[in-house]
Amino acid sequence: MEPRDRPRRLRTDGVRPLLSETTLSPTDLVTPIFVDATTDERVEIDSMPGHERVPVDESADRVLEVMETGVEAVMMFGIPESKDEMGTRAWAEDGVVQRAVREISAETDAYVITDLCLCEYTDHGHCGVLEDGAETDPNLTVDNDATLELLDRIAVSHAEAGADMIAPSGMMDGMIGTIRAALDRAGFENLPIMSYAAKYESAFYGPFRDAADGAPAFGDRRHYQMDPANAREARREIALDVEQGADVLMVKPALPYLDVVADLRREYDHPVAAYNVSGEYAMLHAAADRGWLSLEEVAHESLLSIKRAGADLIITYFAEDVAEVL
Ligand code: PBG
Repeated sequence: MEPRDRPRRLRTDGVRPLLSETTLSPTDLVTPIFVDATTDERVEIDSMPGHERVPVDESADRVLEVMETGVEAVMMFGIPESKDEMGTRAWAEDGVVQRAVREISAETDAYVITDLCLCEYTDHGHCGVLEDGAETDPNLTVDNDATLELLDRIAVSHAEAGADMIAPSGMMDGMIGTIRAALDRAGFENLPIMSYAAKYESAFYGPFRDAADGAPAFGDRRHYQMDPANAREARREIALDVEQGADVLMVKPALPYLDVVADLRREYDHPVAAYNVSGEYAMLHAAADRGWLSLEEVAHESLLSIKRAGADLIITYFAEDVAEVL
């Protein structure tokens, strides 16, 4: 029997571009930027080749470099000059992110998204205020409601500095609703929130924790970030953030969780973001270094796959490299 259906008819070079279902554009991509208040020189991040921590006064230059590649948006992370139990430098008017955002907004047209979390600012490295005894009792962890109040302050301080979008990543219950209300009260009702809606407790964040110096000093984040085994739970997390007023919904990490991205895409008409995290970046670099993979091709294929699954925008350390060859 000769096959009647021959999908190969549509794989000739002439027709493939006409039929391509997914395209990648530099304007789909967001580059994470690390601004470090403890240094006056750029410092390479070993586990994330091509990425550096930059001092505050070079933050605008760093963003201009990004924009030269066609990428127009950045996600800001800060390493503060000092840390304490509450993470007070996270909402300081002269905090590292606040100063950098002011400089970037003054000197560039970039769209500036700020990651909103406490883990880089607390001396224990957790994403909020600790419950009494959390250091020694593995059942204890971050106090949800006490943390919400601090997240409100951080959000307003980022808004006052000129952030274009706020991205809370701490996985506290109720954080989107309380941050939305705090921003509205402060007159920032038009400032959008991108929620890290389904953020998993993932080992793929390893290299980032070196980059941003935010590893927990004890324990892990399993009491607040999601169990990698769960997809139905992601639906519930996402529904809660929608109810609380999230404007953009993010899934993180990206590649190991494309089922969650695809499910979110089917369920909601909100813009969908996916965070192609540090470990997803580092492992491709490591394999390419050994000559086992072609970096440019696997990077492009990774981002294309994330879009195919349903993401509208991708936060990725590959943004500049991929945008440059698009
Ligand atoms: C802060 C935060 C983390 C990442 C983004 N925001 C670390 C974490 O949750 O432990 C990870 C990003 C990456 O791995 O690229 N809460």
